[in-house]
Amino acid sequence: MSKIPLPYSPKVLEIFKNPKNLGKMDDASVVAEAGSLACGDIIKIYLKIEKVNGEDTILKASFESYGCAANIASASILTELIKGKTVKEAWNISWKQISDELGGLPSIKYHCSILAVGALKRAIRKYYENKKRPEWLPEKETPEEKQTLEVEKLIEKLYKGLGQVQA
Ligand code: FES
Repeated sequence: MSKIPLPYSPKVLEIFKNPKNLGKMDDASVVAEAGSLACGDIIKIYLKIEKVNGEDTILKASFESYGCAANIASASILTELIKGKTVKEAWNISWKQISDELGGLPSIKYHCSILAVGALKRAIRKYYENKKRPEWLPEKETPEEKQTLEVEKLIEKLYKGLGQVQA
């Protein structure tokens, strides 16, 4: 079966060939993942967080991805964007912002970016699990966090139904 190449932006292709911050982080403060074993696309985000001028700040961020080009490019740009930011600033990054930074994603690939941001939000939640919840962190799941769960369910259903993995 022949495949039609996806209309990726030049930026997605460039970052995919040369991703930044790829790999495990041994001294991470927190690690979280998002994705679906069904489609084989899993993204793991590692964050090193420390207090800088009284603010929880992301000193380092890295990722491991078993996803597609869009997922790798999203995670690469996301980890670049959040490095040096406060955790509060990183919390407010949206998948749409990541997609825009990448010059846009094909609509069939939106979920790849949603998963990258979803993993970041999970990591931030996990970081504060046994700490005092900062006032900026909503107590309940936000629509974007729910969207990650929906995407995970949807791709599992879709790929199970297809019985194959899309590259
Ligand atoms: Fe890109 Fe599933 S993460 S196709």
